[in-house]
Amino acid sequence: PGPDTVAPGHFDLVVVSNRLPVDYELAEDGTESWRTSPGGLVTALEPLMRASDGAWVGWPGVADREFEPFENDGISIVPVRLSTEDLELYYEGFSNDTLWPLYHDVIASPSYHREWWESYVRVNRRFAKAAAAAAAPGATVWVHDYQLQLVPRMLRDARPDLVIGFFNHIPFPPYGIFAQLPWRKQILDGLLGADLIGFQRLADAGNFSRAVRRLFGYSTRGVAVDVPSQNGQHRRVIAKHFPISIDAAAYEEMAKRPEIQARARQIREDLGNPKTIMLGVDRLDYTKGIGHRIKAFGELLEDGQLNVEDVTLVQVASPSRERVATYMQLRDEIELAVGRVNGDYSTISHTAISYHHHGYPREEMVALYLAADVMLVTALRDGMNLVAKEYVAVRHDGDGVLVLSEFAGAADELKQAVLINPHDIDGMKAAIVKSITMPKRERTRRMRALRRKVFDNDVAAWSASFLQTLTGGAAVPS
Ligand code: G6P
Repeated sequence: PGPDTVAPGHFDLVVVSNRLPVDYELAEDGTESWRTSPGGLVTALEPLMRASDGAWVGWPGVADREFEPFENDGISIVPVRLSTEDLELYYEGFSNDTLWPLYHDVIASPSYHREWWESYVRVNRRFAKAAAAAAAPGATVWVHDYQLQLVPRMLRDARPDLVIGFFNHIPFPPYGIFAQLPWRKQILDGLLGADLIGFQRLADAGNFSRAVRRLFGYSTRGVAVDVPSQNGQHRRVIAKHFPISIDAAAYEEMAKRPEIQARARQIREDLGNPKTIMLGVDRLDYTKGIGHRIKAFGELLEDGQLNVEDVTLVQVASPSRERVATYMQLRDEIELAVGRVNGDYSTISHTAISYHHHGYPREEMVALYLAADVMLVTALRDGMNLVAKEYVAVRHDGDGVLVLSEFAGAADELKQAVLINPHDIDGMKAAIVKSITMPKRERTRRMRALRRKVFDNDVAAWSASFLQTLTGGAAVPS
């Protein structure tokens, strides 16, 4: 066995992602605990992981700490250590200041630093080793997202017996943009180590296949990519779109709870009973088009098309990647813009933009969705955007209008939303006015169609379809 070969472990399904579904927490009094993060991926995979013998490999959210594997809610957790330097170079650097802006249409300029790349390779190797050590002979390993694109190839080299899937949660850029990356060939080669590469949209899978043809000249037919192997043979890799979703029933169930409905009414009252509540919910990220949204709303107030007594915009911007310079600048820009609009248009009794730089528990988000007459999803580029799907799942009353950017993956499915180009400020203003004044019949007709789409394609269907394609039929690999 070569230096990279690893003795197999005993898990039949291994999920690998940068973040674990649990976060390490150290309270002020020194007590340590693990908090389950409420991500959709966990909800989708939990039942599968329990049914098969599953393990989750990832980073516990704290630097420089080594943890032994442990069990949480019936899932085995295998923590991977990241040092302060790894976080700076691999996570904040290459993942979130090179790949993230590059893959989101260079809305912000990507930085290219060789030390960041070297760290990315080192950390990907560490994740691959941990996954290889956990996986039983012939196991299925499912690797997630842009932070870990080299893992499939590293895993295949170490453990050719494994079935390897990869899912990219963010967009895959057009070739003209992807080609900027100094390590573009290494990234493609890393991904091609997988048997199945999943993308959010049809266009993302197409961009990937085009890059493979342009850079390697491999032949691709439909979803199939033929990767030459040593003996003049080919290994077939599938590159296909699998739009991710949410646990729609769980959201609907929460929305039906009396205490959450009471909270939604309370929110409206606390805002001064405006006729219309508009809502934005995003990680504070430059891809989300928060500034464009505020500009459109500010102009509508300025034009007198909207009045602060009648309409309030609630903007939840959850803190994200706060040590990356672009995110610090964005926060300053957004908070300046919010302050300007509020300074110009708020009254003592009515605030134009109710702005919250916080993350909230899921219950509070559901109450906000219920209270919101118009949901604004104005991303400049977004892999999917699950907020759009959450809003739809919550609206069992059949009411509420979703304004959705064409540049969010969700727009491929949610065609009955009011679709917008967020760069077109006049178009966005018209869409907002149209949504606020939309007759009830049209609102319900659209929402009914949207809800059908979301409930027919929930996150359980997503993971089942990915794993079925990967393992050739078995819903749960055994
Ligand atoms: C996006 C990415 C995820 C990432 C999440 C939060 O949804 O696709 O991989 O985990 O953002 O970002 P963070 O950097 O805090 O993990």
